[in-house]
Amino acid sequence: MFNRTKKTAIFLAGIGLIALSSFTFLDSTTKKMSPEDQRVEQRVDSVLKLMTIDEKIGQMIQYNGGFDVTGPIKSEVDVAGEIRKGMCGSLLNVVGTEAVRKAQKVAVEESRLKIPLIIGYDVIHGYKTIFPVPLGEAASWDMNLIELGARTAASEASASGINWTFAPMVDVCRDARWGRIMEGAGEDAYYGSQVAIARVHGFQGKDLSAPNTIVACAKHFAAYGGAEAGRDYNIVDVSDRTMNEVYLPPFKAAVDAGVQTFMNSFNEINGVPSTSNQDLTVKLLKKQWGFDGFIVSDWGSVQEMINHGVAANDYEAARWAMKGVCDMEMVTQCYLKSYKELLKNKEVSMNDIDDAVRRVLRVKFRLGLFDDPYRYCDAKREKTDILNKETRESARKVAQGSIVLLKNEKQLLPLKKDLKTIAVIGPLADSQKDMIGEWSALGDGKDAVSFLQGIKSKVSSSTKVIYEKGCELEAPQTDFSKAVAAAQSADVVVVCLGESRDMSGEAHSRGSIDLPGSQEEMLKAIVKTGKPVVVLVSNGRPLVLTWADAHVNAMLETWFLGTEAGNAAADVLFGDYNPSGKLPVTFPYHQGQVPIYYNYKTTGRPYDKNSRYNSRYIDIPNAPLYPFGYGLSYSKFEYSALTLSQTKIAKTGSFKVSVNIKNNSNYDGLEVVQLYLRNRVADVTRPVKELRGFQKVAIAKGETKTVSFTVTPADLEYYDRSMTKVVKSGAYQVFVGTSSQEVQQADFTVE
Ligand code: NOJ
Repeated sequence: MFNRTKKTAIFLAGIGLIALSSFTFLDSTTKKMSPEDQRVEQRVDSVLKLMTIDEKIGQMIQYNGGFDVTGPIKSEVDVAGEIRKGMCGSLLNVVGTEAVRKAQKVAVEESRLKIPLIIGYDVIHGYKTIFPVPLGEAASWDMNLIELGARTAASEASASGINWTFAPMVDVCRDARWGRIMEGAGEDAYYGSQVAIARVHGFQGKDLSAPNTIVACAKHFAAYGGAEAGRDYNIVDVSDRTMNEVYLPPFKAAVDAGVQTFMNSFNEINGVPSTSNQDLTVKLLKKQWGFDGFIVSDWGSVQEMINHGVAANDYEAARWAMKGVCDMEMVTQCYLKSYKELLKNKEVSMNDIDDAVRRVLRVKFRLGLFDDPYRYCDAKREKTDILNKETRESARKVAQGSIVLLKNEKQLLPLKKDLKTIAVIGPLADSQKDMIGEWSALGDGKDAVSFLQGIKSKVSSSTKVIYEKGCELEAPQTDFSKAVAAAQSADVVVVCLGESRDMSGEAHSRGSIDLPGSQEEMLKAIVKTGKPVVVLVSNGRPLVLTWADAHVNAMLETWFLGTEAGNAAADVLFGDYNPSGKLPVTFPYHQGQVPIYYNYKTTGRPYDKNSRYNSRYIDIPNAPLYPFGYGLSYSKFEYSALTLSQTKIAKTGSFKVSVNIKNNSNYDGLEVVQLYLRNRVADVTRPVKELRGFQKVAIAKGETKTVSFTVTPADLEYYDRSMTKVVKSGAYQVFVGTSSQEVQQADFTVE
């Protein structure tokens, strides 16, 4: 939990402190309450007891402030009037200290109880200084960098009036067609949990009431990444086991990291829309996990229960959601229209409402909004703390760490800075706007560094840089003569291909995950020139890069790297930064393999290329192009001497696994050492391997480092047939290596 600083002033004049009342769902949390938590509860009570029913409902309503529209519903409401009446607890999409101050002023100077607003915004991967898209940042496998990204975003957003971000998205996704795979940390629950923790810590910091930290929101609860056929908003049909093993762990990790809010998902799970799912929210999240913050619906998702077909009208939709599932309704007005009748008909209780309001107020108190509602409206900070030298430096550092070297034939990279001529070709070569990626808040492409600009500022003054767009990103084209001519006149060709920034993100699922348009055709024409070719790929999802992998000399996965994209890419291209990223998601060989992930099950007929009746395709391989955890370096890391401190382990025992890694190259480097486990025989089928640890270590040229992991019983646990978490005795395997495929392995038994 946070180190909340001591606050003495009570903003609301005349409100005394009263004794703690009992809460409906807080049994597990109240036991652990710190004195500071207790003080917050007392202050919450003191406000709650003054509130009319209308004012309580007001805290459960969030309106769109109009700055930005991030969903299909346009508000016709007189928002200021509603705030004045005490009928609005939060706004989203209002940005800038001036606008926020104006809205906050109505709340705290013109409404009866003067309850401040909480101001939410989608600060996903940066606010004004844009960091790599979340999937890209996750490729760094560096929790400090990931935390730095969120920390900088929080600092900028809070300097601009925002005190709540709708991030991190912690949805695990195994289907690259889903556009929102870009917003998460990839395909793995364990890795996604570590990233969730880093992001929550980054946004919320150690002291939530500090003026430069903001409330985080774990979204979308739950299993949104499991959308059938990868189509956004689609249904999710998922087993209990997959739910518990794959989709829920990052949410639990976020709770344990102290996340203050959750957002429901748009989807249904096994026939139950999340916005009506009491098992998930009340039973699991609030009671079992002890989450004491509040849950906001997604944009209009309460009302969407009518479309789902579980509510006939707004009244029925509100009836589902108000019972602890959704403490705040985003944008639609089902609560407002229905609460009186719902209470009259005893379909919703005062307890339900009080619990929701208590949660909202609690978070507002923790933010320090009652002590100073203008805490996040410092116009001076807004001028100095946003997009400055320091934030750019942080963005460059994170972008460098997020780049993944996919191929480097005959060590073509790093390039020499004094090359005579270099051609930079492609629709993404000089596209500042695409560099910042989708969902980039106040980010402006004009502030971003394109690949061409980054390369130009890196090479020697005598190097000639030729630029040629070559083709459009999506339009069909057959004439690539300009690109070919540019390539022919150069010593090295850098080809910048991929998706535009808006081809991933919400409502941007793709049926095809090939390179769009004629880009691959252009690449073929360039490769034919015989010049050394380096490809820079920009994308918000895994793409099928099979042809490129087989034919170009070097390839870098650059995602959408943010404001400093071009500089970071040039740092890697020319050897000022040795690439260290690893894929947090599998890149398929062919799109027919999707969904594809490393921790699959063997089936009763495991893959065998020499026989017919087993689990395989007749026309494509089972194996991906690039596996989870894959990424090269300019260094050459050699693994040896995998050692276990014991090979017979007690069920409650821990043991050490160590491995030697030699950097057999002339480059100092960073290596992500990965540890996977396999339970050979259990009462249910288990994946072929599961990530259970990783470390990013610096290994100097020529140096050999011993890297050790401690495997604990928690790493060996799984859900048995009765869905109870157990450690099973029997045969296991441990794998340590540079990716999920390239590993050293050893056996051990649990007794
Ligand atoms: C809908 C998206 O699903 C959610 O992630 C976002 O936070 C809201 N819109 C608000 O913009």
